[in-house]
Amino acid sequence: MIIYVTSSVDGKLASTTGYSRFSCTYDLVRLHSLRAVVDAVLVGANTVVRDDPLLTVRYVAGRNPTRVVVDGRLRIPTNSRVVTDKSAKTIVFTSSNAPKDKVIKLLSMGVDVVVLNCRGYELPMGEVLHELLLRGVKLLLVEGGGDTIWGLVKYDLFDEFRITLSPYIVGGRGATPVVGGEGFSTYLDFSKLVLKDVKVCECGNEVHIVYHRKLPTFRMLR
Ligand SMILES: NC(=O)c1ccc[n+]([C@@H]2O[C@H](COP(=O)([O-])OP(=O)(O)OC[C@H]3O[C@@H](n4cnc5c(N)ncnc54)[C@H](OP(=O)(O)O)[C@@H]3O)[C@@H](O)[C@H]2O)c1
Repeated sequence: MIIYVTSSVDGKLASTTGYSRFSCTYDLVRLHSLRAVVDAVLVGANTVVRDDPLLTVRYVAGRNPTRVVVDGRLRIPTNSRVVTDKSAKTIVFTSSNAPKDKVIKLLSMGVDVVVLNCRGYELPMGEVLHELLLRGVKLLLVEGGGDTIWGLVKYDLFDEFRITLSPYIVGGRGATPVVGGEGFSTYLDFSKLVLKDVKVCECGNEVHIVYHRKLPTFRMLR
């Protein structure tokens, strides 16, 4: 599973007002080339609510991956492009506590809604990945945002972490970090990475870095 984000150099995916268009055209080509070879691309509910992304392949030739949204409360609007656009299939994962009428509405609009049993609204991401595997998703690309990435990083549920550093400093406590959630508190728990590749973007002003996840030799139980 690959995580791919484009952030400001100070590690923000979006500003306090939600501005998140950090990619240059070369970065978009790189991202879309990856979309064209994966089975599915996954984002969190906030990304759909704020950006209304299409998540299709547009900057290169290629087939569209399945779109996957994790949305425990089923907040995504029914007029989101991932719902109304029919050029790719969309699967929405939600919790058994989400409004049933919204589940029915999305199903009637051709969205594959997968309801997972959980106490609150937080979906176990291991189960989400397992369900995707059962549906033929072997290679998954996760594009964010920060809270969704945390749900995966927290349980070591990724293989590769790719990041493009864009030449901006965004700042702001309320800005979206590359990885959100409660975070790790001790060095032993930190997710450790191994550098695989680094290149200066064709634009000459961005850096694209590929890390692999280092398998932990010891990790505190979480
Ligand atoms: N620069 C980039 O590469 C890039 C890429 C993607 C997104 N972004 C930006 O990132 C921002 C959004 O990031 P974000 O961290 O705020 O949100 P996010 O990760 O897009 O979505 C988080 C929300 O999705 C739902 N969700 C995620 N994981 C879940 C789980 N395991 N179980 C149940 N629900 C889950 C939750 O909704 P509930 O709160 O309703 O439970 C959660 O609050 C946007 O502004 C977007 O523009 C930037």
